[in-house]
Amino acid sequence: MSDLGGTFSLGGELPVTRMGYGAMQLAGPGVWGPPKDHGTAVAVLRAAVEAGVTHIDTSDYYGPHTVNAVIKEALHPYPEDVHLVTKVGARRSEDKGWPAALSADELTQAVHDNLRNLGLDALDVVNLRLSDATGGYPVAMSLAEPFGVLAELREKGLIRHLGVSHVTAEQLAEARAIAPVVCVQNQYNLAHRENDALVDQCAAEGIAFVPYFPLGGFSPLQSGILDDCAARLGATPMQVALAWLLQRSTSMLLIPGTSSLEHLRHNLAAADLALPADVLADLDRIGVI
Ligand SMILES: NC(=O)c1ccc[n+]([C@@H]2O[C@H](COP(=O)([O-])OP(=O)(O)OC[C@H]3O[C@@H](n4cnc5c(N)ncnc54)[C@H](OP(=O)(O)O)[C@@H]3O)[C@@H](O)[C@H]2O)c1
Repeated sequence: MSDLGGTFSLGGELPVTRMGYGAMQLAGPGVWGPPKDHGTAVAVLRAAVEAGVTHIDTSDYYGPHTVNAVIKEALHPYPEDVHLVTKVGARRSEDKGWPAALSADELTQAVHDNLRNLGLDALDVVNLRLSDATGGYPVAMSLAEPFGVLAELREKGLIRHLGVSHVTAEQLAEARAIAPVVCVQNQYNLAHRENDALVDQCAAEGIAFVPYFPLGGFSPLQSGILDDCAARLGATPMQVALAWLLQRSTSMLLIPGTSSLEHLRHNLAAADLALPADVLADLDRIGVI
């Protein structure tokens, strides 16, 4: 069985496999409503855990509520080594938008919604996700108030560890002055490397960097260079994109999202794909084209 890229210890305390799973794709179209195929959604989650994945990323606003409900149905009671990472700070609007929900009441409600819908007494990791009223980001704001709310819920024992999402280096520093931060979840992939400096900073400081949209998200990565590298390695382009991320930094944790058992198998196998120097050099050209 693959070791899924080895393990990384969140906060020096929660070991998770570096290849994890992101559950957002299990909601219906537009990340709205129940899974398009309920049985497959349950099967994907169980297959991930059976393959050894111990890091699952979610949010109660996926669906909303439906993704957490299917996680609970598929995996509860959770194996001791499986860690669920959730995020708060947004809500779903009637027009399927993602406006910010950063008030003390909204954050507290979101933590309780996650606890109830996942069937947990405490959440392993909660990310504070920043955005503006229209869902736009990055947003130039102080996170002291909302992060302070989560830090208090952590003191009360409802949350074990905290992370941040959609943040700048300055916002990360501001959060760390309030409470320890174990992970940063920002967009990053072969074609979007704006967070390069933050990736390096996280590795140097023992903080996990967990890229969302590792495969490009709603518009999966497309690149002739990537296709060519994959063909040379006998792998798929998506596998090369994931292997590149794993090789990019020792504190990089992956949460590729899929609603397909076949894609899940391909994605997990990417943890065993070593990229030689000539391929890495070619892939580096993608970000600068
Ligand atoms: N912090 C935030 O604001 C934020 C934002 C977005 C996402 N996230 C988290 O990050 C996780 C990952 O992001 P994501 O799911 O949006 O994007 P992603 O992992 O970059 O890509 C998912 C897309 O790629 C497809 N896909 C997956 N594996 C594939 C494969 N092997 N071959 C071909 N296509 C494949 C999926 O379709 P199929 O279902 O057909 O496989 C889906 O359309 C999410 O699940 C969520 O937990 C966080």
